[in-house]
Amino acid sequence: MPENTEKMKTGIAADHGGFVLKQIIKDYLISLGYEITDFGAYELDNLDDYPDFIIPLARAVASGEIEKGIAICGSGVGAAIVSNKIAGVRASLITDHFSAHQGVEDDAMNLICLGGRITGFAVAKELVKSFLEANYSGGEKYQRRLDKIAKLENNPDK
Ligand code: RB5
Repeated sequence: MPENTEKMKTGIAADHGGFVLKQIIKDYLISLGYEITDFGAYELDNLDDYPDFIIPLARAVASGEIEKGIAICGSGVGAAIVSNKIAGVRASLITDHFSAHQGVEDDAMNLICLGGRITGFAVAKELVKSFLEANYSGGEKYQRRLDKIAKLENNPDK
């Protein structure tokens, strides 16, 4: 376990498509010593909408209230689309171990999106663990690219 695990503030959110996986990931992260805020859904409702839970999580990541977020819907696609509408959020749908950590190291990914109907529970746990343990490298070329993205966020028409 990395030294700063207990201090890292993580957040998690899911719609009905990610409801079961959310509870499994939440229990797993608590067992590892992470502090985790649950943004819902708090009950299984097959008619709920993922933006209602994932937008508050993404806003908390953007504000710094949450250091890293985990957003789950059925496929992970909607979770990624809505998360990336929030300035300051760098979210991606992740299904492989390499991208789970490289996305943080090179791209400062701060929100991982998972498909509750796509990725098995054991793999999902490992993906989240890799994501949370990874650190942004801060390399010059990586920062240059992030600066271009930040510029786009600040001036969307240019
Ligand atoms: C909900 O049924 C489903 O569409 C949603 O969880 C997600 O997969 C959207 O991307």
